[in-house]
Parts: sequence; C-alpha cells; structure tokens
Amino acid sequence: MPMTAIILAAGEGTRMKSRHPKVMHKLLDRPLVSWVTRAAREAGAERIVVVVGHGADEVRGHLAGEKDVECVEQTERLGTGHAVRVALEATGISAGPLLVLNGDGPLVEPDTLRRLIAPVADGGSAAAILTWTPEDPTGYGRLEFDAAGSVVRIIEQKDCTPEQAAGLTACNPGFYAFDAEQLAAHIGELSTNNAQHEYYLTDMVSVLRGHSLNVAAVKTEDADELLGVNDRAQLAELTRLAQERINERLMSEGVTMLDPRTVWVGPDVTVGRDTVLLPMTMLWGSTTVGEECEIGPNTRLTDCTVADHVSLEETVGVDVTIERDVTCGPRAYLRGGAHVLEGAHVGTHVEIKNSTIGCGSKVPHLSYIGDCTMGAGVNIGGGSITCNYDGVHKNRTTIGDNVFVGSDTMMVAPVTIGDGALVGASSCVTKDVPADALYLERAEQRIVEGYASRRLERLKRDEA
Ligand code: UD1
Ligand code: CA
Repeated sequence: MPMTAIILAAGEGTRMKSRHPKVMHKLLDRPLVSWVTRAAREAGAERIVVVVGHGADEVRGHLAGEKDVECVEQTERLGTGHAVRVALEATGISAGPLLVLNGDGPLVEPDTLRRLIAPVADGGSAAAILTWTPEDPTGYGRLEFDAAGSVVRIIEQKDCTPEQAAGLTACNPGFYAFDAEQLAAHIGELSTNNAQHEYYLTDMVSVLRGHSLNVAAVKTEDADELLGVNDRAQLAELTRLAQERINERLMSEGVTMLDPRTVWVGPDVTVGRDTVLLPMTMLWGSTTVGEECEIGPNTRLTDCTVADHVSLEETVGVDVTIERDVTCGPRAYLRGGAHVLEGAHVGTHVEIKNSTIGCGSKVPHLSYIGDCTMGAGVNIGGGSITCNYDGVHKNRTTIGDNVFVGSDTMMVAPVTIGDGALVGASSCVTKDVPADALYLERAEQRIVEGYASRRLERLKRDEA
C-alpha cells in the first residue's frame, strides 16, 4: 500500500504575533509547512494532505506549487483528533500506512519518519508514537507504557495529575504513524471529555488499545529534530540549527566556508567539491553550484544552475544558468532566463535579463542587457543598454559574433548587429548593422580655440 501523510497546519500560532499563519513563516528559504511536506515526501509518502484553517488561502496558495500536496480545510478548530478526522473524511483515505505530522516541526528527518512508520507498515502495530525524554517535559503529552514497552495511553499535560506530571517523563513530540484502516474505523470514538474540551488525536492510543490493537513506541535521541516553532525566537533558533546541519553536510562533502555562520543554504541546494562559499552568501531553492567555484561575498542565488570553475562576487542571480569559467561581479544582477556561456564575463553594476551572453563575451561595466541574443567574443562598452521596452512590448536585440560595441551605446530593439561589426561610442542604434560594418551616430565636433577665457572675461565685465 502506498504511504500517505497528513500534516496538521490549521492553527493560528498566536505567539508568533503575526498576520500570517504560523506554518507560512520561513525557515531558510521556505515556509515551515514545506519542510514538513519535504520530510514526508522523502520518507516515501506518495500522497500528502495538509489540514489548513487559519490563513487557509495563504497556505493553499503557497502549496499550489507542490504538485503531490492537497489541502483540506478544517473550518472549526476542535482539536488535533478532529483535524485528522476532517482530513480522512474529505480524502476518503482508509487504508495503508499513514503519517500524521505537526506542521510546525520542520526539522524532523526522513530517516526518523521511516523508522516511525516501520512498526505499522510491517510490524503489525495499529499505530506508532515517536517519543523522547527532554530535560524539561513541561507542556508535552506524556506516554504511559505497558510491561512490553507498548504505549498504553498519552496524557496531555493539562490532564495530568501532579504525580503523572512529575513521574511520566517520556514525551510526545507530535509525530505519529497509523494504520489508516484502523484509524478511520475508530476515530469516531474520540470524545471531548478532557481539560481542553477538544478531540485529542493522542487519545487514539487508548481507543486503539481498547480494540486490542498494539501501539508501538519509537524512541529517538536527537532532540533538535523534534523541536517545534511557537514564537519568533524559536524560529531563529531552528533556522540556526538548520543552517548548521546543512553547512556541516556541505563541508563534509568538500565545500570550504570562510565562516559557516554567515552562509545560508537551502535544503535542496547542491554544491560541488573545492567550491568556496564566502560570507553573506545565500543559496536558495533548486540552485546547483559546480566544483572549484568561488561564490560571494554578498551573493544570493535562487534556482540557479552554476557550472564548474565559476566566480560570482557580490552577485544576485534568480533563475539563471551560468556555464563554466564565467566570472561575474562585483555587483552583477542576473535575472530570469539569463544564460551566460563558457568563459564570459559580466562585470560591475551590470544587469542581465532573459539574454544569452555568448562564449567569452564581456559586459564589463554599467550595462543593461535584456531580451538579447549575443554571440561569442563580443565586447560591450561601459554604459551600453539594450532599449528592449517600447512602453508596450519587449523587443529583442541580436548581436553577432565578435561585435565591438563602444561605450554608451543605446541599442533600440528590435535591432540586429551583424558578425564582426563595430559600433562607435555613444551611438544610438536604431537600424540593423550589417556584418563587418562600422555604425556611428554622433554629432560632428566643433572646436573654438580660446573660447573659455574669453567667456569668463565677458561675464566679469557684465557684472562690473
Ligand atoms: C500536541 C499533542 C501533545 C504533544 C504536542 C507536541 C494533542 C492533543 N496533543 O499538543 O501531546 O506533546 O502536540 O507539540 O494532539 N491543529 C489543527 N487543528 C486543530 C488543532 C490543532 O490543525 O483543531 C494543528 C496545529 O496547527 C498544530 C498541531 O495541530 O500544528 C498541534 O496542535 P497544538 O494545539 O499545538 O497541540 P499541542 O497542544 O501542542
Ligand atoms: Ca549619442
């Protein structure tokens, strides 16, 4: 049976003091909920159901980008047991192994979830509860075990007697596995007869036990991966833990960091060996960086593909492809659809959008190149601009191989400059330039000898 996951994300997260639902707050490059969908996916869940409620539209809108995720709305928040029942009823899920995960526990490892589902998937248990013993158990539901080590019931902190609160130290971090068939058959037996008058998902333990079904305990030592986010300080703390976890992995794989505390890399990014990441570098989304690169300082790349032996200094790149031996920056901005071919150079204060920069071509200073196809061996003089926008349409500029464009050239698109052509500095190019031609648009120079001092004398005389 394929594995399913239900993620509980309907709560408000009052302590975040936010207009946005808690699960939409970002940890590194993505909202909390997407860390949990990612863990469920990597653990093998083929169908992922997110229970939304508070700020449902915002969560739904974000999750529209994750094709294997469906949202179910819980309009009344009557407790975690109710949230799961709503999800089961809306989706018809009634068989197979099922994970139920809190949407605010972003660091849980796929390996731990695989361990959690095992007693249900092939061990004959109706449910499994992840558990650990924190230094301070306050606030958590407490597990009670039988002699065989199975879970008898979970008692919420608010329902504990003082003896139970002090004596029961094994806690419930909020990650569960169920046999969906048993869960669906018996979830209707939950009641609100408790301190918070809610349907507790945790009461499923005693409900299932009442039907002579086994509930396994799956112990874990790593407390960090079980941590949840309830306020902004915890968000910052978990961000630091995620940063550390990812940076340690990258360093163990052969990446150098001058100062790992100032490098932030998203969980799906890959970085090749002998690449150096300098301070204030952020690599987000599906970015991949090759080997022997130097990235940073002050560089942010989102969904970029960077080949080997590339140097990007103070560069921002979003959705771009950079081939090997390219150098960029300091202060380059590469936007959607930029493709910088082998050995090219994009220099300082240069913006490139939706353009191909040919092999070995150079755009060294203060230029905007948008909607342009540029050949190999081109040199674009400082301050040159493709005027790609006429106020209504975006138009293309085509530049052949080995073209030399002088400084301060305006290329008014649509326009084509043929192979090997030469454009004189400060020209406004409005007509196609044939290959090998010279194009010059420049007023004739006038020189008036001795004019400056004569003018000064005249002005002083007028004043007297
Ligand atoms: C829950 C557990 C507790 C455990 C703790 C770990 C129950 C009854 N208790 O308590 O044993 O130690 O998590 O953090 O489950 N949610 C909904 N709909 C609801 C209520 C909650 O979607 O109607 C979501 C919340 O958004 C949250 C998750 O379920 O993501 C947990 O709910 P919360 O109210 O925070 O449960 P706790 O009191 O922390
Ligand atoms: Ca001019």
